[in-house]
Amino acid sequence: MRPQLLRQALRATAARRTPAAAINAARPAILAPARASSINTGRFFTSTPVRAERDENDPDHDAASTTGKPGESGMHEGAFARTDETVRVEYPEEDQLPSSLPIQGRGGPHSLRTLAAFSMEDRVAVVTGGARGLGLVMAQALCTSGADVAIVDMNRDEAQKSAESLTQTFREENPGIEEDRIPRVTAHYCDVSSPTSVKECIKDVIKQHGKITNLVTSAGFTENYDAINYPHDRIQKLWGVNVDGTYLMSVEVAKHLMDRQAPGAIVFIGSMSGAIVNVPQPQAPYNAAKAAVRHLASSLAVEWAHAGIRVNVISPGYMLTALTKKILDDNPDLKHKWTSLIPQGKMGRPEDLMGAVTFLSSDASLYVTGADLRVDGGYTIT
Ligand SMILES: NC(=O)c1ccc[n+]([C@@H]2O[C@H](COP(=O)([O-])OP(=O)(O)OC[C@H]3O[C@@H](n4cnc5c(N)ncnc54)[C@H](O)[C@@H]3O)[C@@H](O)[C@H]2O)c1
Repeated sequence: MRPQLLRQALRATAARRTPAAAINAARPAILAPARASSINTGRFFTSTPVRAERDENDPDHDAASTTGKPGESGMHEGAFARTDETVRVEYPEEDQLPSSLPIQGRGGPHSLRTLAAFSMEDRVAVVTGGARGLGLVMAQALCTSGADVAIVDMNRDEAQKSAESLTQTFREENPGIEEDRIPRVTAHYCDVSSPTSVKECIKDVIKQHGKITNLVTSAGFTENYDAINYPHDRIQKLWGVNVDGTYLMSVEVAKHLMDRQAPGAIVFIGSMSGAIVNVPQPQAPYNAAKAAVRHLASSLAVEWAHAGIRVNVISPGYMLTALTKKILDDNPDLKHKWTSLIPQGKMGRPEDLMGAVTFLSSDASLYVTGADLRVDGGYTIT
């Protein structure tokens, strides 16, 4: 019964009945006896349903409801909505992580018309975790749109290699372009979970580029352990990179923007895991970290709005990167489970984030702040 109807029923009967009788008259019949007994024992706030109240003519439906015992209606109960503690995936050691290459054939000169507001000309974007995976592709989206980019990563060699291959890909896709129109892409070492490392890195970026206008935080990782057996040092490391790293980087960039009294745009890479609980792989600390990233963006969006600094989140769903490919190779069942839960039925490719990051980084989204842009094939809407 809707609250308004409940209030009307109470008002209509209140003059004629005792308060307790009035409440029971307005409640659904099934709850009334429980309420009456709780009033007798003085326990006002419980109305526990009794398992024995079964409909003899409808045993199947009862077994599928809270009247039934766990598993009574079949092994399928909860099958698509539970974690499986046997799924365990550790984030690989640095030297075992696969490299990524820039996307080919997605940039280059084109004559299709588009809004000028999407241009990133005259911007300098810091992309953390930009040496590979989603970060590298988003860095490429920003330089293809006109920005100079600072790739910030803990892996020095990979960052340097990626900076060079981004510039090289741009040259190849824009033959004959003037030298001063080739984006400047630099590589910088940083452990984003360390305040001193972050400070030094931002100083180095400003020294090399003169300014920073944008930040994209893609440094992050996930692993799978069931909550009870998750080693504490690994949880701290995970939160250190995903949460502290996002916080420290954004504060340092915001300070620089405020010092220059310049507007800017910050994009955090969260995850759909910040809004839903993935199944079947257990990953409670990662999910909590990404929920923290999402709400950090909302909080900083409010705190820094006065300075013209926008803070938004992109929450990707399952994306097919070199790393997720390896996880799927090791756990073939996961691919079917994951894609069966995505309305579009497909995992995303890293390049599916190129438009989203350019939109949120550019003036095309000037009135968008604190938003969570889900790029997940519809996963989180079902
Ligand atoms: N791949 C997906 O399906 C997916 C889905 C949703 C969200 N995400 C998120 O996207 C982001 C990027 O994921 P990815 O798949 O590209 O991962 P990736 O492992 O391919 O790349 C992450 C990069 O971050 C760097 N990094 C790690 N720790 C760092 C640290 N302490 N300081 C600086 N750099 C560090 C790594 O060296 C690496 O280059 C992560 O935050 C991840 O949680 C990924």
